[in-house]
Formats: sequence, structure tokens, C-alpha cells
Amino acid sequence: MGYVGHRQALDVVLGGLRRMEYRGYDSAGVAVLDGAGSLTVERKAGRLANLESALDTTGRDAFTGTAGMGHTRWATHGAPVDRNSHPHRDSSDRVAVVHNGIIENFAALRAELEADGVELTSDTDTETTAHLIARAYDEGATKGDLAASVRTVCRRLEGAFTLVVTHADQPDLIVAARRSSPLVVGVGEGETFVASDVAAFIEHTCEAVELGQDQLVVIDRDGYTVTDFDGEPAQGKPFTVDWDLSAAEKGGHEYFMLKEIEEQPDALANTLRGHFEAGRIVLDEQRISEQDLRDVDKVFVVACGSAYHSGLVAKYAIEHWCRLPVEVELASEFRYRDPVLDRDTLVVAVSQSGETADTLEAVRHARTQKARVLAVCNTNGAQIPRESDAVLYTHAGPEIGVASTKAFLAQIAANYLVGLALAQARGTKYPDEVAREFSELEAMPAAVHKVLSTVEQVRDLGRRMADSKAVLFLGRHVGFPVALEGALKLKELAYMHAEGFAAGELKHGPIALIEEGLPVVVVMPSPRGRAVLHAKLVSNISEIQARGARTIVIAEEGDDTVRPFADELVEVPAVPTLLQPLVSTVPLQVLAAEIARTRGYDVDKPRNLAKSVTVE
Ligand code: M6R
Repeated sequence: MGYVGHRQALDVVLGGLRRMEYRGYDSAGVAVLDGAGSLTVERKAGRLANLESALDTTGRDAFTGTAGMGHTRWATHGAPVDRNSHPHRDSSDRVAVVHNGIIENFAALRAELEADGVELTSDTDTETTAHLIARAYDEGATKGDLAASVRTVCRRLEGAFTLVVTHADQPDLIVAARRSSPLVVGVGEGETFVASDVAAFIEHTCEAVELGQDQLVVIDRDGYTVTDFDGEPAQGKPFTVDWDLSAAEKGGHEYFMLKEIEEQPDALANTLRGHFEAGRIVLDEQRISEQDLRDVDKVFVVACGSAYHSGLVAKYAIEHWCRLPVEVELASEFRYRDPVLDRDTLVVAVSQSGETADTLEAVRHARTQKARVLAVCNTNGAQIPRESDAVLYTHAGPEIGVASTKAFLAQIAANYLVGLALAQARGTKYPDEVAREFSELEAMPAAVHKVLSTVEQVRDLGRRMADSKAVLFLGRHVGFPVALEGALKLKELAYMHAEGFAAGELKHGPIALIEEGLPVVVVMPSPRGRAVLHAKLVSNISEIQARGARTIVIAEEGDDTVRPFADELVEVPAVPTLLQPLVSTVPLQVLAAEIARTRGYDVDKPRNLAKSVTVE
């Protein structure tokens, strides 16, 4: 984050970092320009709270000034220790840089600097940029021009980066630049901000400007100027943030994640709103024609983590509704295995943040192969939707907890809208059938609300399971991705070994893991839907129970056949088969959060993780 304005920069920057800490929390640092040619820096390993204690010790008066910047880090190059924390400075302590992303050619740059006698003090890729910018500022055609110096250096950098740069001799401005990594400008009254995320400045202004690829912005208290890396004038894209500070605060909840679990009915309703008009499904930014949709002969869903699981759910619906083959692929694997793509392939890129580097690279690969790309994204104007042919936004609101909850449910709903849009264009569903599917989706916020009113039982269960060594999750059909999602939540939040399996696969090996007392969570399909699947899963439960497993069964209300096989039964409302993940995921989110809380872990900031993974 960077700030130039009329307030004390330290307060503004620390406030912004507090709201963005979910993006990385290995270390934190600030730099403030005092206006009289001096640059004061503090940085500390660990959470932002460590930095704040250090500032209290140093004395915050040392950081007086109305321009400054800050950073919270998710370590890539170099351990999370003080000397690797940002901001990084040049040898004369006049230039300070914070950076997100990875500078892939940093080893060559570092060698060049060392050959010139520069002593580097950190293990990071970032530090090289501070020295190079200082050198450009001190000599040649860019002498005394910070923006030109940063441009010169940016042209030499390979990889993905957002840089925010200050120079002690330029106390009234800050320069920021981006390539494939997020950066937005916030425009206030007599103050201007740059940040990775609008959350950093939402307290001060809702007026924001999105920057394009390879663009640089100079901010001062009167506004901003954008150029490309060659210095040619460029335009940012102004937008107004449509959520306010309360959305980025805990609102009385102990953790953001708990608040976000409760917001799921709204997230679903907002995601569906406005997408069925005059009897037709409509997407947001549709730059793919109806004819192109009709011509689609194969769909790939590419995504990571929970977003990938939302794609696995979508496969069942899209294949069923559209009679099209759907492959769901981890974005990090997609482009490296030479997938067969052409202009009749639709690639659906699902990403809450719209910044995930693996997914972004998958999108770029798909476009080079002429495939059409449709982004499902929760962040307005992020890089993935910008580089896609069509967009469907999930309106889940900001998701701050690192574990995806409301965004995941919203992704499932949005993926289903994509499926219905395809079915409509291809005529594999009659308009009245599309309308009926949509109205069933519209009933889901109420169903999720009902699940939320019964979670106390799951919390109690979570407290009792907190000492477990491992937990297995089983499901079939759309319950299988739910099982994977339940296991992911437990791993990332409670640091507990957890695995999700397709229940039918258990007998092919994993059943050997079952031992006395092992908790196994089973996601039951509806007995009213695919009765054959239900019967088979009942058999699978009895097989594991016979081998000593403690069965925790998520089943539809009134499903009495499963009762004898459930050591714990968690009931969810009866909903159409394909929509079951929207209700059956919720108890698994609550379970993981409660186990993590009971074990004393920070539910919002699990170790080693960051919300947006902007490196490959
Ligand atoms: O922002 P994205 O949806 O692209 O993020 C993808 C994953 O990194 C994300 O879903 C991650 O797996 C979550 N921590 C899961 O809870």
C-alpha cells in the first residue's frame, strides 16, 4: 500500500495493512517520508502486531509525514525474518520499495549488482529493484526522475510484480507499477492511495481506478497520472467500489470466516440476482456470441483449491444439462500438459480473487490456443476477468478469511448459471426447463439459511473431534467434491490430516486406513434423487462402520435409512440433487472452523497460507 495526502501516513498505512493482512502475514513493514528529505523505515517478521509493537518501542513520532507505504509479506525468496521483510532500500537508504510477485530474473540482476560492488543485505528478489532504481535515479537520462527510473527498471524485470516505490528526495509523490499482479488506485479528497486491494482504502474512499498490464502510476495528494512502461500516457479504468467498510469488518464475529459462513445466503442471492431476465439467463460481460456458445464442443473448468472443487461440482450439472464433455483441471497443471484446445473449446476460469497466478497463466495459455475463456470471479476488474472473453461475477462481497466459504458457494451457483447459459444457447434445455432450474437455484439462499440455524450441533461435534489425528471424508456424485472441500477446509484450518474420497473408491485401497475410532464424514446423496447411489453409499458406510470407523453422516432431513449407520447424524434440508453441495458443504465449513478454534488456531490466518496466491 502507498499513501500521499493530508493525514499522518503511518496511521493510514497501518489501517490499510490491517485490512489487507489476509493477503500475507509472514512479516510487515512501513516507510514514511517526512518531507524534509528523510525516509524512516521499520519492518518486522511475523504478524502486523509485531510491527506495531516495534513502532511503539521506537516511538511513532519518528514516523511523522504525510506520504508513506507499507507491506505485509507472504514469503517467496528468503525466510520470513526481519532482514527479508519489506520495504527494501538501496545502499544509501534513499529509495524504498515494497513488492508483490516474483522477479524471475533476479539472480542475474543480483549478480550484476554484486559485480558492481553493491552489497545486498537480504535474500529477496525485491532488493535488487531498490538498488537498480536508485542507480537509474542518480545517473543518465532518468536522473532525478523517479517515475522514469522505475519505468527503466520495470522494462528489465521478468515475472510478475507490483512495485510501490518512494524516494527521500521526492517526498510528495509515490510511484507504483504492475505486471500480472494486482494494483488499484484510490482517489480521495486531497489524498491518493495505491494498494493491492481496495480494502486498504475503503475506509477513506470508494472511488478507485484499475490499472492495466505494464502500467505505472504516479500519485500525489492531488491525484494520479498513468503511463505505460515506455512513458506513453495511458488510462486507468475508474470504478466505484460497491461495498463499504462494514463488509470488510468482522461485525461482532470472532473471526471473518464465521461471519462469511453466515453471509452465504446473501452471497448466493446476490450472485443470482439479475441473471434471469425476459426468460433468459444473462451473463455479465459477454464478449462471446450466442453462436460461439452454440458451437462449443468441449468445456474445461480450470481453477485451484476450493474454486477447483466448485468446478468439479459444475461438471455434473453441465454434462447433464448440456450434453457436453467437461474436464475439470487444476490450473497449475493445465498448460503444462498440452491440453487439446481450439476455438470451439470453452474454458471456464474460476477464481475468487481473480489474481491467482496459476489460473491466470491457464487463461493465457487457453487464449493462445484460441479457446474462448469465461471467468467466474468475485473481484471486479481483476486480471483474470480482464483477460477473459466473458465474465460472470459472483457477488459474494469481500472474502477476508483465508479459507474460502461464501465465495465457494457463490462459485457453484455461478458455474450453474454458466451451465444454464450453455444449455439455453445449445437448446439442450427448453426455456421453461431453464426457468425451473433457475427458480430452484433461487430457493437456495433460504435452504442455506435453514442449515445455518442448526449448526450448534456441528460446533459441539467439532469440539469433541478436536483431538482426532485424522479424518476421512466420503461422497459420491456431487457429494464427492463436497468431501474434497470438507477435507481441504480441515487441513488448512485445523492442520489435521484429512482426505476426501469418492466412496466407491474406498474398497480399492483407502479402506486400509480405517481403524477403530477413526472419524469418517459421509456426505449422503438424497434418497429421492439417485436412489441407487444412496443405497450404495449406505453399504459403504456399513462397511467402514464394521471396521470400527466413527461415522458422521450429513444426510437429508427424514432420510431414516441411514440412521442406523450414523454415529452422528447431521441433517440438511431436502433440495434438488444437483444443488445439494450448497447445503451439505456448510456443516463441513463449520466443523473445520470449530475444530481449529478448539485447537487454538487463528481461523482467519492459517499458517503458511495467503488469501491470494499471486505466484506460480
Ligand atoms: O482466489 P482463487 O479462488 O483463485 O483461490 C484459489 C485457491 O487458492 C483458494 O480456493 C484456496 O484453496 C482456499 N484457501 C481454500 O479455502
